Amino acid sequence: MKILITGGAGYIGTHTCVELLNAGHDILVLDNFSNSKPEALERVGEITGKFIEVCEADLQDRATLESIFYQNEIDAVIHFAGLKAVGESVEKPLKYYHNNVAGTVTLCEVMDKYNVRNLVFSSSATVYGENNLVPFTEDLPLSATNPYGRSKLIIEEILRDTAASNSNWSVALLRYFNPVGAHNSGLIGEDPSGVPNNLMPYISQVAVGKLPELQVFGDDYPTRDGTGVRDYIHVVDLALGHVRALEKIVTDRGIEAYNLGTGRGCSVLELVKSFEAACGKTIPFKIADRRAGDIAECYADVTKAERDLGWKATFGIDDMCMSTWKWQTLNPTGYEVTKKEITV
Ligand code: NAD
Ligand code: UFG
Repeated sequence: MKILITGGAGYIGTHTCVELLNAGHDILVLDNFSNSKPEALERVGEITGKFIEVCEADLQDRATLESIFYQNEIDAVIHFAGLKAVGESVEKPLKYYHNNVAGTVTLCEVMDKYNVRNLVFSSSATVYGENNLVPFTEDLPLSATNPYGRSKLIIEEILRDTAASNSNWSVALLRYFNPVGAHNSGLIGEDPSGVPNNLMPYISQVAVGKLPELQVFGDDYPTRDGTGVRDYIHVVDLALGHVRALEKIVTDRGIEAYNLGTGRGCSVLELVKSFEAACGKTIPFKIADRRAGDIAECYADVTKAERDLGWKATFGIDDMCMSTWKWQTLNPTGYEVTKKEITV
């Protein structure tokens, strides 16, 4: 199949490109590089030995999108393109609704016009809001606590309405839990700009000496050690989940949501311990106040994805930490270091 990958130069997109190419699919990446670098796709080419077709454009550049569908026999779209910083979304909600929601509407309009109605969408466990009990099942009531999360919720609803209007649509809403880790080659991984907001890249930058210490946001949650519990999932497992979802939507019509997680929770302190074992260093940390908007526990019930997609996460926390550390040490400044420099 030929798959259009929006946001394919990003963290999850690059790992998914690798797995799609490994599975024998053709890909075309559309990215405006607002949160990624072309170098990431060069490395996907290096890992797979394949040429990556790339179109540098914004999702809302309708003329370019149309020319892609006009010139290519696209079978399906995997739609990663979106802004994802929760804090920024609170400060600049219109930017998030414009980019994420309006961008998705433009994409779907063009897909509809060119009769391509197979779509895999990057949703998030954030749509379960703060009032549900773990483990989260796909049929729980949904809510949002910030504009980023609300953009995902609104897009899910837009896609449900769209699928209901025409039975030729086939959509998978993939609700990711906490993607971490990197490809085992050490060539691609997460490359956050500035100080990371998320736990794993933060720990990793403390370990490499770029940041002095970790702040643990709260040790008084009702969890086994008082720190927040999350369902960390290896990005390669996540990427393989997209390949399975794609194969599912081209055979079965309709719209379905799937949790992509491991089904297991890991606390902040457990992740720190595992990372210390992976890097052989002590991670200095101090306990700080809770972070506004955080919930105590978030982990998936993965029964539906296992049953309907035939997919199951296989990597454990130790693999996630070891691959993150390999990526961090080989690429201390992310993709800014050229490939040539890191192999010397
Ligand atoms: P990322 O920022 O690394 O990748 C997103 C890519 O989309 C980037 O390459 C960016 O340049 C591109 N992009 C953004 N807006 C665009 C636009 N208007 N036109 C063209 N390209 C555009 O993020 P990621 O971690 O790979 O996440 C991918 C998707 O998964 C996002 O939609 C994100 O919201 C969702 N998600 C991520 C996480 C996570 O923790 N990483 C969790 C849940 C859901
Ligand atoms: N944490 C710290 N210190 C830090 C960063 C995080 O203690 O410096 C803690 C948090 O309080 C939380 C856990 O580590 O308990 C995980 O935090 P992350 O920021 O890594 O991840 P979140 O679960 O808060 O959020 C992530 C994405 C969201 C997404 C959500 C659900 O950032 O975009 O997962 O998928 F919506």
